[in-house]
Amino acid sequence: MTALPLRTAHNGFTLPAIGLGTYRLNGDAGAAAIAAGIDAGYRLVDSAFNYENEGTVGRGVADAATDRAEVIVTTKLPGRHHPSEKARWSIEESRFRLGLDATDLHLIHWPNPIQDEYVQAWAALVEARERGTVRQIGVSNFLPEHLERLERETGVLPVVNQIELHPYFPQAEQLEYHREHGIITEAWSPIGRAKALLDEAVIVEVARAHDIAPAQAVLAWHVARGSVAIPKASSLEHQKANLAAASVVLDDAEVEAISALGRPDGRLFDADPRTHEES
Ligand SMILES: NC(=O)c1ccc[n+]([C@@H]2O[C@H](COP(=O)([O-])OP(=O)(O)OC[C@H]3O[C@@H](n4cnc5c(N)ncnc54)[C@H](OP(=O)(O)O)[C@@H]3O)[C@@H](O)[C@H]2O)c1
Repeated sequence: MTALPLRTAHNGFTLPAIGLGTYRLNGDAGAAAIAAGIDAGYRLVDSAFNYENEGTVGRGVADAATDRAEVIVTTKLPGRHHPSEKARWSIEESRFRLGLDATDLHLIHWPNPIQDEYVQAWAALVEARERGTVRQIGVSNFLPEHLERLERETGVLPVVNQIELHPYFPQAEQLEYHREHGIITEAWSPIGRAKALLDEAVIVEVARAHDIAPAQAVLAWHVARGSVAIPKASSLEHQKANLAAASVVLDDAEVEAISALGRPDGRLFDADPRTHEES
């Protein structure tokens, strides 16, 4: 099994360059797909309270032949649980559903700036980390202004920010901000949900040049830009192909040509963190 490149946060925490997304992996079939993915080499598994699959992920981790200690299990706190007291039990509930002594990485799912309770949620995560029931804490869909407020009001900077990131929405400035602050960037919907993006001429061309599939060309683009992609794949064939993409090296011209697909309205759906409020 080839070792995946690692990304390192400001506190030394590391993540592999490719992880497994799990949105819509549920039930027996989902648990079997997750266990198979881990045994094929995934060491980072995503999840969220709102995906209603923490039980499935926990089962997949338990059923894998791979030692549980080698796997970084992630979940996310939903918007309706931001207030302090709810955040406290939600963090515990997620851990119970996952069936773990400690959650490896717990993120705030969305900042919900209009609701404006994300600092309370963050304080609850800091507390859980101090108690040892959560190992590392981070956020998702946070803009620099939200990250700065967390640091200003709690003195603690997230280790990870999981954001929408794919060639239609390359987010170069946000990536640079993360790099400067030692925050690992995780890319959600990294292959654009395997829709129109994979038929783009430039992607097909890069894939052909390296004798790989279009999804692998997109994942190699993420690897070249230093982020952690978490493609969701239910089939073992896709899971293995996505892991193998980590060893494909694109040159600067190829990276730039793919980045040129970016456009200001490149989000897959209406999910601007300034206005999107996720329950
Ligand atoms: N933080 C957030 O707000 C947020 C938002 C959205 C998603 N996420 C996380 O990010 C993960 C990934 O995003 P996503 O699920 O939206 O989209 P994605 O990973 O970009 O795309 C998933 C789709 O790609 C297909 N696929 C996977 N590998 C492939 C390959 N090698 N060739 C062709 N098709 C392939 C999958 O099909 P099969 O399943 O059939 O293999 C699935 O239909 C989610 O699962 C979730 O964990 C987080």
